[in-house]
Amino acid sequence: MRILVTGGAGYIGGHVVLQLQQRGDDVVVVDDLVTGDSARIPDVPVLRADLSEPSAVPMLTDALAGVDAVVHFAARKRVDESVLRPAWYYQQNVGGMANLLLAMEAARVSALVFSSSAAVYGSTEGDSIPESSPTSPISPYGRTKLIGEQMLDEVAASRPLRAASLRYFNVAGAGSPRLGDTAVLNLVPMVFEKLDAGEEPVIFGADYPTPDGTCVRDYIHVADLASAHLAALDAVASGAISGNRPFNIGTGRGSSVREMISAIAAASGLDLVPRVAERRPGDAAIVVADPSRARSELGWEARHDLRDIVESAWASHQLLSGSPRG
Ligand code: UFG
Repeated sequence: MRILVTGGAGYIGGHVVLQLQQRGDDVVVVDDLVTGDSARIPDVPVLRADLSEPSAVPMLTDALAGVDAVVHFAARKRVDESVLRPAWYYQQNVGGMANLLLAMEAARVSALVFSSSAAVYGSTEGDSIPESSPTSPISPYGRTKLIGEQMLDEVAASRPLRAASLRYFNVAGAGSPRLGDTAVLNLVPMVFEKLDAGEEPVIFGADYPTPDGTCVRDYIHVADLASAHLAALDAVASGAISGNRPFNIGTGRGSSVREMISAIAAASGLDLVPRVAERRPGDAAIVVADPSRARSELGWEARHDLRDIVESAWASHQLLSGSPRG
């Protein structure tokens, strides 16, 4: 197939592009290269563009000639930044999606995989979250993802669009060391940053109603997340999915912040003694996917465990930070 990947030079997009190439698909990437890096995907043509600009519609329409399906990653993804600059997040994430959908309509491309987020659920209750759980995002970022899904529902009601919205849980790890996450926005890279500075990792709150008092999340290896996109692409391209269908992409297993820091200690060989700080505003105690729909309808499930996630992240950090240790 010929696949257009928006945001294909990013951390997750780069992994998907690599897996598409490995199975013989023809790939073209559109990326503004603000947080993405074309060095991740050296053999792939990259059209440099901001999807939220009006000029993106004719550019994308041309780029979509002969394309069978689209994977849409291009978006801003910082929860804290979205609180500070909400209008810009709507322009970037919602405006970019609108332009992409206009171009797909003009080019008569009808199959799409959308990068959504567990952030669409907002505050969560219970052991694991099925897709039928109420959606009530607590940040502008989460709302832009939910609006993206709702746009797909409405467009699919008006013309023959087949879409899968993949709601990612906590993504970490690296499929190969050079493809690792270089942003310091999440627990694993934030722990690495502390180690680089010679400081102790920080736990944001140890008084949650969880077994060890620290927050529990569903950590998924980025290579597993990437393979979910290929399974979803096959389903939208073949017509197995009609309309817009949301899928949780997680493992169904929860790990606490303390367990993650212990796994990082084991992978790095370092003796890590975390410092407990105040709770971070907006953190839910437990966020774990019920991934059964993706298993039954896409034939996909995660294969990597926590150790694979943390060891691959550590190997990548050593390569990309240029400061091997231990
Ligand atoms: N944490 C620490 N110390 C740190 C960094 C994080 O204790 O130095 C804790 C957080 O408090 C949280 C857990 O580690 O309990 C995971 O935090 P992350 O920031 O890695 O991830 P979140 O679960 O907060 O956020 C993720 C995605 C977001 C998405 C959100 C809601 O990164 O994009 O889930 O689904 F919006």
